[in-house]
Amino acid sequence: MRRIESGIIGLDKALQGGFPPSSVILVTGAPGTGKTTLAMQSLFHGGRKGENGVYMTCMGEPVFKLKRFLSNLSFYDEKLVEDSLISFWDFSRTADSEWPNKMLIDIVEFVKKNKPKRIVIDPLPLSINFKSLLEYRKYLYAFFSTLSQLEVFTIIIGEESDAPISQLEDYMVDGVISMELKPLNNPSSYGNFLRIKKMRGTAHAKNVLRLNFTGDGISVEDEETKMLQGADV
Ligand SMILES: Nc1ncnc2c1ncn2[C@@H]1O[C@H](COP(=O)(O)OP(=O)(O)OP(=O)(O)O)[C@@H](O)[C@H]1O
Ligand SMILES: [Mg+2]
Repeated sequence: MRRIESGIIGLDKALQGGFPPSSVILVTGAPGTGKTTLAMQSLFHGGRKGENGVYMTCMGEPVFKLKRFLSNLSFYDEKLVEDSLISFWDFSRTADSEWPNKMLIDIVEFVKKNKPKRIVIDPLPLSINFKSLLEYRKYLYAFFSTLSQLEVFTIIIGEESDAPISQLEDYMVDGVISMELKPLNNPSSYGNFLRIKKMRGTAHAKNVLRLNFTGDGISVEDEETKMLQGADV
């Protein structure tokens, strides 16, 4: 099967080559766990291969700030942005009482017109405007299935919550990656971790994977190498 590479060292291997095409992937985790970095690293990897990608945000991290932070990471390539292979779309200003229903329509129209290969939605609009779980489920179903039909690979950033609504999203997407900051054996030090909770259409690593965060972005540690070295997580 054709795969959509994340370009993140270790992650593609853990996914048996990459994400299945036309998937909608939810990346969840507490603040600062690396969700946006994972998504942008993957978008720029696609850009380097000539695949156009769009980062969409609504009342998340302001785009000018995001670009400033990203420009410190080696995968960020200003040329791809200048050439419009990677673009940024902030619709915070247009959010009104119709939002987020209107956002679904806007995104779908945008994808139909511009035909990006990859999109990132950071974060997924909250469910505040929905009267019931059923109504929200219908909204998500229409949204996700339309994106898949348009053959765009989508990463959605979720904000962690115990509300039943966020668990609903887990069931409705094709893949869920959970990112975490956890104490190591020495309780005063913390480390970044990632777990592939589900990925429809492929076998994948099920264990908790350790993340390294450097100026090159994130990479996933190779469990086999670590076992050989007898390293302790
Ligand atoms: N150059 C770097 N080297 C190591 N770690 C870094 C570097 N740059 C950023 N980080 C880490 O990445 C974290 C931010 O990553 P990112 O913005 O991807 O997280 P996020 O999960 O999207 O956060 P939020 O929920 O606030 O949007 C920082 O809190 C910091 O720990
Ligand atoms: Mg973020």
